[in-house]
Amino acid sequence: MILSIADLEAAASGKLPDATQAFFNSGATNQITVKENSSAFSKYRIRPRVLRDVSNVQTEIDILGKSITFPLCMSPAGVQARAHPEGELATSRACSQKNIHMGVSSFANNSVEDIISAGRNVGGQINYGMQLYTMQDREAEKEIIARAEGAGCKAIFLTADSPILGLRYHEKRSNFKIFDGISFPMVENGWEDKKTQSHDERFISFNSDSHSWDEIAWLRSVTKMEIWIKGVLTAEDVEMAIESGCDGVIVSNHGGRQLDDVVPTIDALPECVKAAQGRIRVHVDGGIRSGADIFKALALGAECCWVGRPMLWGLAYDGQNGVELMIDILYQEFRRCMQLAGCRTVADITPDRLARIGSDGSMSRL
Ligand SMILES: Cc1cc2nc3c(=O)[nH]c(=O)nc-3n(C[C@H](O)[C@H](O)[C@H](O)COP(=O)(O)O)c2cc1C
Repeated sequence: MILSIADLEAAASGKLPDATQAFFNSGATNQITVKENSSAFSKYRIRPRVLRDVSNVQTEIDILGKSITFPLCMSPAGVQARAHPEGELATSRACSQKNIHMGVSSFANNSVEDIISAGRNVGGQINYGMQLYTMQDREAEKEIIARAEGAGCKAIFLTADSPILGLRYHEKRSNFKIFDGISFPMVENGWEDKKTQSHDERFISFNSDSHSWDEIAWLRSVTKMEIWIKGVLTAEDVEMAIESGCDGVIVSNHGGRQLDDVVPTIDALPECVKAAQGRIRVHVDGGIRSGADIFKALALGAECCWVGRPMLWGLAYDGQNGVELMIDILYQEFRRCMQLAGCRTVADITPDRLARIGSDGSMSRL
């Protein structure tokens, strides 16, 4: 029986070949950040208020100019065809059905045009964001941006934590083959002769490790879409994002897949929110596995949460239905958490709803 994200992870992982499991589930080097992204949530406990009327709970929020069902979006994660043959098309349909926005990876196995059409065809009106890497070939980068904008994307998510790829022992040891039998229609111009390259080799050959904050001005000159920075972990970089005129930041460490031993995102969130002072939108991803985790992130000041692996597990478990099941689980848990904590609206989820447990077991209010 699939009742929780942990159930879904177990069921999905059982269906995937070992090498794909290694690619999806693990992170960089010693797996410290992958683990701590989730475990860090347990430092926080909820302070519920009682005897509140929670008969009419409102979970909706406005993101990218549209109301979504609850404060959750789908992180851009590549290579979804390795989870299910329909890949991002199934994810897009599920998001559309559940009224949840979706991030599209540059490493998607379907084109942004097809991904958005798949969602629109099932009747929903969600928004999409295109994830982007700074590329060596600016013309190719410009083309991705133009295609994304033309297809209807509302935002660019510039991934800032990946000048090079993180070192992923599990991926190397399991000999994961990224290119076998699948295509990458957003970035694969001229890839036909490169199919024997590893993920690492391919990434190095197209991605630019000389990226900088100057890119924001260039992005502004080539698109009218919102510009978000994905992969910020410090107050200093939130300040840079504000100075550069970005619309938002996603506090993210790439799900622990880039630099291991960085701060868990839920611990980086408070300093980022404090630095933002409401001048820029602050979202978070990494290790979110329950409705209570979403509640805690909001109480710490995030406007919205994003999830990567839970989406991939849903997709691997049962395609579109599996992603819908994953969204339903998190929605029901989040709604129930709000009710039991005495919150009628998302705006009621404030810092005073949390306590922090110190290393000596003592509890302090935020
Ligand atoms: C298999 C996989 C592929 C990913 N691909 C991308 C990508 O192409 N671009 C990107 O910016 N982030 C990528 N991410 C990171 C996610 O966008 C997100 O930051 C991360 O998964 C959030 O952590 P979580 O998986 O614990 O929810 C990927 C993550 C996974 C697990």
